[in-house]
Amino acid sequence: MVNVIGLGYIGLPTALMMASHGVEVIGTDYNKKLVDTLNAGKTTFKEKGLDELFDEAVKCGIKFTTEYQVTDTYIISVPTPYDKFSKKVDACYVVAAVGNVLDVCPKGATVVIESTVSPGTIDKYVRPAVEAKGFTIGRDIHLVHAPERIIPGNMVYELLHNNRTIGADEREVGEAVRKIYASFCGGEIVVTDIRTAEMTKVVENTFRAVNIAFANELAKICRHDNMDVYEIIRICNMHPRVNILQPGPGVGGHCISVDPWFLVGDYPSLAKVIDESMKTNDGMPEFVLNRIYEIMRENGMTDTGRVGLYGLTYKENVDDMRESPTLQLLESQARHLAPPLKVYDPFVSDDVVKDQYHDLDEFLADVDLVVIMVKHNEIRENMDKLKEKIVFDTQNVCTLEGAYHI
Ligand SMILES: NC(=O)c1ccc[n+]([C@@H]2O[C@H](COP(=O)([O-])OP(=O)(O)OC[C@H]3O[C@@H](n4cnc5c(N)ncnc54)[C@H](O)[C@@H]3O)[C@@H](O)[C@H]2O)c1
Repeated sequence: MVNVIGLGYIGLPTALMMASHGVEVIGTDYNKKLVDTLNAGKTTFKEKGLDELFDEAVKCGIKFTTEYQVTDTYIISVPTPYDKFSKKVDACYVVAAVGNVLDVCPKGATVVIESTVSPGTIDKYVRPAVEAKGFTIGRDIHLVHAPERIIPGNMVYELLHNNRTIGADEREVGEAVRKIYASFCGGEIVVTDIRTAEMTKVVENTFRAVNIAFANELAKICRHDNMDVYEIIRICNMHPRVNILQPGPGVGGHCISVDPWFLVGDYPSLAKVIDESMKTNDGMPEFVLNRIYEIMRENGMTDTGRVGLYGLTYKENVDDMRESPTLQLLESQARHLAPPLKVYDPFVSDDVVKDQYHDLDEFLADVDLVVIMVKHNEIRENMDKLKEKIVFDTQNVCTLEGAYHI
């Protein structure tokens, strides 16, 4: 039996996927409200195909609880934020969850850490914590790191098809864990050592952050001298060895906007390009805000003009708002002491910010300038509703003549 610890965006779909592929699974989370919701037959976030997967896993016998189980295999999927000052990974949730497991696990159990951690985290924080509890690693307990690559919005498909990496101290333990993941994963599963697995995950997200930053920097250069960044990128990408990404209003979520900082924190004198890239991406919401003021001035709007942000989530067609560019923009706008902007997102039903709307038509009726922050399908399908508006499109999806761009 596998006990999955942490039933959030990653742990829940992983647990459901294993359960629906013949693995006996019990999911544990210390958030009682979350466990109660799952036990009431409801999923805790919106994701394509998740409800169907949930029903299948329940049919196959998955259980949800706040208790840690006595078993031979644990998968830990708890948060790994970064410390805002040192930029280093904050491993406290992982260390605490490993401690919870060690309180109940039998000798010889395998503890798989799925959470993203910086290279060396398991050596620096997890091994000492395990040894302090009197366990000998490799005899009483086996440690494995199996980072996750899935993307919100396409998690179910990617769980089934992505390649995976498993890092283990002992080859046989890595192979045994590989078999558990192979119950559902059709991709290639590479078995390596723990530090290599830690580094690959962080490098993958860093690669993406640096490439996004390059596109964002081009957008700033092009804006400075009024060149069309999208046309320039389109033409450059016709070169057989060039593939530039698209600029945007910033980077959110708990991966690309967080993990590269781990390398800056651990290697401050070496990770220069990464450091600058992260600062460039983090500066985009402020850049967009200044562009809003510029567009307001160009259109003769006063400081109290009716401006609305379309989209609160960090990416399209999901309900995850963590570190979202819109929230970052609102934060920096509050520092400017400017009047609040109106906000609407079809995926966010709770009231999370001031002046939030829950109906697209009501939102549009109250604004003159619409800023497209997120390219949800809804706005792509309702472009004609923006015909009478001033549109600032940070995502390059607007098909209307005269829209402003980044
Ligand atoms: N969200 C993503 O897109 C994504 C993608 C790849 C990797 N990751 C990584 O996966 C890890 C988990 O991220 P997430 O987005 O699922 O986080 P999350 O915040 O959605 O979920 C974490 C869950 O763990 C629970 N938890 C924390 N400590 C616990 C403990 N000691 N015992 C029991 N439950 C505990 C929390 O209550 C929460 O429900 C992170 O390291 C993240 O970087 C996330």
